[in-house]
Amino acid sequence: MCGIVGYTGMQQAAPILLEGLKRLEYRGYDSAGIAIMDDGSISVQKVSGRISKLCELTEDGKTCPGNVGIGHTRWATHGAPTDINAHPHMSNDGRFAVVHNGIIENYLALREELIGKGYHFESETDTEVVVNLLEMYYTGDLKNAVMRVSSRLQGSYALGVVCSDAPDEIVAIRESSPLIIGIGAGENYFASDIAALVPYTRNVVYMEDGEFAQITPDAIRIYDLFGNPVSKKVQKVNWDVQTAEKGGYEHFMLKEIIEQPRAVEATLRPRIRGSEIVLDAEGLDGEFLRKIRRIMITACGSAYYAGCAGRYAIEALCRIPVSTELASEFRYGDPMVDSETLVIVLSQSGETADTIAAVKESKAKGAPVLAMVNVVGSTVAKLADFTLYTWAGPEIAVATTKGYTTQLALLYLFALYAAKETGRVDDKRYRHLLRALRSLPKRIQEAVDLNPMLDRYAEDYRNTRSIFFIGRNSDYAMAMEGALKMKEISYIHAEAYAAGELKHGTIALIEEHQPVIALCCNTIVQEKTMNNIIEVKARGADVLALAEKNNSEIISVADRMMYLPEVEPVFAGVVEIVPLQLLAYYTAKCRKCDIDKPKNLAKSVTVE
Ligand code: G6P
Repeated sequence: MCGIVGYTGMQQAAPILLEGLKRLEYRGYDSAGIAIMDDGSISVQKVSGRISKLCELTEDGKTCPGNVGIGHTRWATHGAPTDINAHPHMSNDGRFAVVHNGIIENYLALREELIGKGYHFESETDTEVVVNLLEMYYTGDLKNAVMRVSSRLQGSYALGVVCSDAPDEIVAIRESSPLIIGIGAGENYFASDIAALVPYTRNVVYMEDGEFAQITPDAIRIYDLFGNPVSKKVQKVNWDVQTAEKGGYEHFMLKEIIEQPRAVEATLRPRIRGSEIVLDAEGLDGEFLRKIRRIMITACGSAYYAGCAGRYAIEALCRIPVSTELASEFRYGDPMVDSETLVIVLSQSGETADTIAAVKESKAKGAPVLAMVNVVGSTVAKLADFTLYTWAGPEIAVATTKGYTTQLALLYLFALYAAKETGRVDDKRYRHLLRALRSLPKRIQEAVDLNPMLDRYAEDYRNTRSIFFIGRNSDYAMAMEGALKMKEISYIHAEAYAAGELKHGTIALIEEHQPVIALCCNTIVQEKTMNNIIEVKARGADVLALAEKNNSEIISVADRMMYLPEVEPVFAGVVEIVPLQLLAYYTAKCRKCDIDKPKNLAKSVTVE
């Protein structure tokens, strides 16, 4: 999510770190900072806002002497994007500085423990516990302190640590967050991302989970978490800077599609503790939820479609009526919301003008607002009564993918939580559904692996003028997002239709070779959708169906198939959308469209 970088060598560290941080800018960030070690002491410079501000402050690093340092670009997760919350963070005694990429899930308990021992905290971040734990466990050996600290941490992290007692050394450690060591001559580096290293070296070592490195100008020593040395292969990177930024993928959109298992994991995992769902929004509890008579979901674009899909899960599990409304329509319809209506607002950016207006309108009518947002500290997040972050990390491609799936995953989590809190689900089913939720990242990965032929299927749509997406119930909601993905990046007219409505109009448009994409993932309505496939086929349509991989009935009626792994039906949407995103991506690619920046579209629509 954030970006980290480190340097130890003979050159002045600050300019190298700033240059490395600039290479991470493309990922999106809201604050930046560096810590430089010089003459046995550490000094930190950090600012909210752009790296250029940090460059101005330090005269491009010239005013920061020292040959060893660590740097950070922050994408806020815990605490607003302020100067104080920016990294690096220092220990109370000033002996350690840390940069961190990831989330420490048990930071609240650790913070309490440290406060009990007399430590004080300046920031709202989860990271500050790490640096004070280092101080607490340090007995003169940095390596031992790092091992002890890592045994206390739960969550995902790539950390860079400097200690004023070890004047030319950096320790970097990885657990579920990327970390790469860069090897130079008489100087060495680390970074979360190859892009930051490419200007300096092409020789790298990829760290694995549970490994840490002691980095000095002349040596890299890598250990497992028990302190046993690990030998690693040095690899050569031949990427140019642009390829490096995209993690080797041709487009950000493809990178973000492939990242979805990790993104959904980041949304769900910190909130599932054993057999409990813990939502980090104070007051969003059973007592509050039992008073709610109705839920209204409002959002724009894909976020609205995530709401349409989430509605089915909430109604199925909680038996509370849910309606969905486009945020751009919301305030013009004199919405019927009151103190017993929970308004759920979805927004990746948290800055969409119509969505902000819907939040204000709901609040004015006395309705409690729950926001599900990706960007920490954004306007929607600040206005809402309750905010849950999706923690998808920065999304660069204009067409949302991981932003959307993490919203949907969070809606599923909320649905199960609310069902439990209001006593609408028995223990056995709750445990079954919780297991299913936990396995969603794996299922998403399987959906990618099961569909390696989508680039070839896409070739057939190269000259297509129009595609219909059909489905029923939750499949219809996924058809809407699938059609939106197709039209926004490939510029092919795509229309989603509730399959049962075909005969009320659209079927008149079905003729020889008309492409139809049929979604048959919802087992309750599958047979019905199968009949609709037969109807359109009888009129000459070319049907590409998406169904579970063992579904021989659908396979026998469709022309071609996309496959879904076995997945709990209530939560299938978040898996089902992935082949549709890939199909849209490959179709846009073979039509040579500007995939990451589609014409006329903006990532964040801040005007009405
Ligand atoms: C724009 C983006 C979409 C996004 C929509 C809502 O249209 O291109 O990808 O779904 O805005 O944005 P939000 O940030 O509120 O989720």
